Amino acid sequence: MKTHRMFSIWLAAGLLTCSSPVLFAGSLPGADNLHRVASDFGVGKGTFLLDGKPFVVKAAELHYPRIPKEYWEHRIKMSKALGMNTICLYVFWNVHELNPEEFNFDGQNNLREFIKLCEANDMKVILRPGPYVCAEWEMGGLPWWLLRDDDIELRKSDPRFLAAVERFEKRLKQELEGLTAPEGGPIIMIQVENEYGSYGEDKEYVGHIADMLRKLYPDVTLFQCDWSTNFTLNGLPDLLWTMNFGTGANIDGQFAELRSLRPDTPLMCSEFWSGWFDKWGASHETRQAQAMTEGIDEMLSKGISFSLYMTHGGTNWGHWAGANSPGFAPDVTSYDYDAPIDEQGRPTDKYFMLRKVLERYNDREPLPPLPDPIPVSRLDRMNLQLVAGLDSLWNGSFTSQFPESMEKYGQGYGMIKYATVLPKGCAAGDRLMFEPRDYVQVFANGEHIGTLDRRLGRKELTMPELPPDTELTLVVEAMGRINFGTAIKDPKGMVGKVELKNGRGEVFVPQGWSVSLMPDNFAPGYKLYDIARMAPVIPVMTASDRLGVERMPAGLYRAGFRVKESGDTYLDMSGWGKGQVWVNGHALGRFWEIGPQQSLYLPGVWLRDGTNEIVVLDIIGPRNPVIAGLEEPIVDMLQDFGEEYRQGEIAPDVSNLKPMVTGKLQAGNGWKLLKGKKPVVGNRLILEIGRGRDGAEAALAEIYLLGSDGKRLSRELWSVAFTQSADVKHNRGADKLFDLQESTYWESANSDKNLIVIDLGDNVSVSGIELLPRAESGAPGLPSDIKVYIE
Ligand code: GLA
Repeated sequence: MKTHRMFSIWLAAGLLTCSSPVLFAGSLPGADNLHRVASDFGVGKGTFLLDGKPFVVKAAELHYPRIPKEYWEHRIKMSKALGMNTICLYVFWNVHELNPEEFNFDGQNNLREFIKLCEANDMKVILRPGPYVCAEWEMGGLPWWLLRDDDIELRKSDPRFLAAVERFEKRLKQELEGLTAPEGGPIIMIQVENEYGSYGEDKEYVGHIADMLRKLYPDVTLFQCDWSTNFTLNGLPDLLWTMNFGTGANIDGQFAELRSLRPDTPLMCSEFWSGWFDKWGASHETRQAQAMTEGIDEMLSKGISFSLYMTHGGTNWGHWAGANSPGFAPDVTSYDYDAPIDEQGRPTDKYFMLRKVLERYNDREPLPPLPDPIPVSRLDRMNLQLVAGLDSLWNGSFTSQFPESMEKYGQGYGMIKYATVLPKGCAAGDRLMFEPRDYVQVFANGEHIGTLDRRLGRKELTMPELPPDTELTLVVEAMGRINFGTAIKDPKGMVGKVELKNGRGEVFVPQGWSVSLMPDNFAPGYKLYDIARMAPVIPVMTASDRLGVERMPAGLYRAGFRVKESGDTYLDMSGWGKGQVWVNGHALGRFWEIGPQQSLYLPGVWLRDGTNEIVVLDIIGPRNPVIAGLEEPIVDMLQDFGEEYRQGEIAPDVSNLKPMVTGKLQAGNGWKLLKGKKPVVGNRLILEIGRGRDGAEAALAEIYLLGSDGKRLSRELWSVAFTQSADVKHNRGADKLFDLQESTYWESANSDKNLIVIDLGDNVSVSGIELLPRAESGAPGLPSDIKVYIE
């Protein structure tokens, strides 16, 4: 452990006084080196130490790329006025290195400036430089171009991966020169990797990252964060260990094992989840303010440090939202997170409740006042004009024998189109089979014949009869890459064969494809389309799609508008289909009619006097191409226009099935194991679950099946085949049983007998099941009886 050391440095005067000699590599740029007092942060017995005194970290998690630069200081001041003393942040590698070795730390990416603002506001900083960060961010922060090597192993000791990481971490270090606590800066702690326990078990790899960071930041306290259920898997002896858990968790329970292994370590919840993120097609997530503030109060009363994830979530601009897995659950654009400071920077009720608690732990000092609020304004309704159909937006075309992934053709984000001719056409009922990555509209001679949406897990389309020489076109939109679990290796476009199977089981594999790209390699500020060139306006036509919904054509829409007074606003996108929005070249993010998010946050600082320009790319076509600016967001409005999540309609009949195991579960938190007498082979898991022991609705957080060797089976191919639909509506569907998140859970919709069917994607041999109850104290809803069938 680090020993305590304190020194003052007067660099500008060329005077150096310290109790131990310290040499700095390189010089500190500009005004940074006027007067720096180095502080010493370290680990003492049962507490952190700042300059020798016990220090409780009260950190606010904020992500600089999710906040317009002009508002950075406002959010930092809001966090300080809430009672926090530290800002905790991830570094998002993929925003800084869009292409290999092309680094960008300017403007919105100016991390140094963000950290200097923290320092200027007397806030310490916890740096989480990845390389992987999760965070509901595209590919968990990893750059897409790593996938150009098919067989690269991400987050492993693959030399190609480690070399790219090292190149980035070294470059990052240049930006952070002079900013660590031992150098007189605000960075007190640095995190090594991120929750590696929920990815795998590989101390060698985690050790590589730790060594890399230790070399770059020799005197800074390094730590690892994980869950209480898996932190020992990769826990390195020379790093500090912290726990991540959410609102409502049993706090003593979360630290019990750590306390027994390291009785003297300071305790810290490095991510205390204030709320949760939303995914497309499911209700908006919230967490109770009361339970959240009670959790913080309890931790502070016990001297436990924390970082509140998120204190202010912000926005996943442009294409930066990630996707969850297992399965494919793309995240929405807003990262409001139900956090104390909302997406627009306003304090919520949660904020004021928490502030009251934090005020009690502020050394009897009053908290600083809140900064002035950022003005909010409305925008009059405007009509947008179609300026270019989707067909005219492709960037040329080239031929390819078979369709390959977008990455193979050198494109990171955006859309890709594959077209081929079916010489014999096909018969009605033939099946077109491929894996959609992610949203694939299928056309025959230009007419839309179906869509495969990866979220829904379907991998085939039933075809109408098509005449010989029909042109088959697949228009693919890539959504965010998966940011969690082993599925983060998530190439887009076509990743396998495209096949046509007829009723006799004969398979035709089309060859000779024409491929077109529509790139989307923008950062905020990048102008995607040269709209001026696209004038004059194409006449607008109304068409009705296959599902009978009246839509305008897919394509690019535009309007110019003036603002009376500029303020933040929320664009109401509820009349639009699916796509993205840009205002004055700033990428606001994705919209999708299915909701729950129906509005997009437009920061007032991105508006200007005179004419502003809004551009919408709608890849399925709007129902009503108008937009108004609202003062409040629409975050919880699901709309159903056809392709829906239809689960829970036909309950399976288990009366003739023999359970593999019938179990009584012991009360209390933590994993429960049920073992069968002998392994059973099957491709479906059926759970029959009674009420919770406490008489409440039954609930479970996670399950694993064990193979015949007693080891956990992969859940990557799992999908929900049946669950009660009411559970789904409340965001408590059976997918939560294997979403790798211990803080989310399945909960029954008020029934004595609950049935869940999970398609295992493959035939597997199962010897037992592990079940994890909810993390809250007393494991609410833990069922007493459970029957497990494998068929
Ligand atoms: C984990 C990750 C975070 C984030 C949260 C959920 O704790 O470490 O990056 O993904 O889950 O919001």
